Amino acid sequence: MANKNQTLGEFIIENQDSFKYTSGELSRLINSIRLAAKVVNHEVNKAGLVDITGAAGDTNIQGEDQQKLDVYANEKFIQTLTKRNIVCGIASEEEDDFVAINSQDENNQNKYVVLIDPLDGSSNIDVNVSVGTIFSIYRRVTPIGTPVKIEDFLQKGSEQVAAGYVVYGTSTMLVYTTGDGVNGFTLNPAIGTFYLSHPNMTFPENGSIYSVNEGNYMDFPKGIKKYIKYCQEEEEDRPYTSRYIGSLVSDFHRNMIKGGIYMYPKGSRNPNGKLRLLYECNPMAFLAEQAGGKSSDGHTRTMDVEPTELHQRVPFVCGSKNMVNKVEEFMREFGE
Ligand code: AHG
Ligand code: MN
Ligand code: MN
Repeated sequence: MANKNQTLGEFIIENQDSFKYTSGELSRLINSIRLAAKVVNHEVNKAGLVDITGAAGDTNIQGEDQQKLDVYANEKFIQTLTKRNIVCGIASEEEDDFVAINSQDENNQNKYVVLIDPLDGSSNIDVNVSVGTIFSIYRRVTPIGTPVKIEDFLQKGSEQVAAGYVVYGTSTMLVYTTGDGVNGFTLNPAIGTFYLSHPNMTFPENGSIYSVNEGNYMDFPKGIKKYIKYCQEEEEDRPYTSRYIGSLVSDFHRNMIKGGIYMYPKGSRNPNGKLRLLYECNPMAFLAEQAGGKSSDGHTRTMDVEPTELHQRVPFVCGSKNMVNKVEEFMREFGE
């Protein structure tokens, strides 16, 4: 029975043994993500004050240059994971190449790599709309104590050992899975503690929300156009409601709670879609499946896509199982 008074720290310790590779390392890793999330949350929360507090030559009180929040979030997550010497490598949407962390040191026994979108939905920051952080964790495939290599990062989503997101919304939540369901924790900002507020989160099998940037409609594959028209038809349980925030994390979070589907299809401007397989699609796909939902590129399961490069993009259809199945039906019938 889930205990809603439980803190994230307690939950991590209590559930450590249910994880198949228990060494405490993954727990330490999630703990440091929790810490970085609190630091970034603090900064995101005062986003509107940046111009005011930064008036004196664009430097903050410590004399550091003020930075765009996505650069700030990137630095904070990388710093936290590096300083605590917890992982052997990090790949970030904000870095051209992966970052190796003391991985050439044969005493470095760390076996995990982290892939991260430090700030998702960054175009929403200036307008006080929710943003997020997405993370994905794998075991390295090269030997421990040798330098990490690109193949440690280019693993199929089905190899993930943990994934999650932080949503900096009306409240701040950390939602994650280690392959044993999905749990959500809400931050009490007064005391800086995350509490288990959403145990065992599940996607309703059916939903009535569709989330897609309809401005790109003319450019979508025929199967997607037909599906959008299907969503709009007047039938028993339709039309569906259209909701699109433009922060994947927030759109996903709402759809998981209420039942819905998120789509970022390909088009001529984005021939592979826009979202990144390793930092955005795979972690969300892992969470979706763990919550009883589904994720694909319209044909193939997201987590079965073989990655070929770090910043690879893929078309993305993710949400309530029956809705994703319907999109796949339309894609089979009407195609590109
Ligand atoms: P990021 O801010 O990390 O670059 O990601 C933005 C992504 C995603 O969060 C969002 O759903 C999508 O881009 C929105 O794209 P459009 O503005 O093209 O709809
Ligand atoms: Mn993003
Ligand atoms: Mn981003």
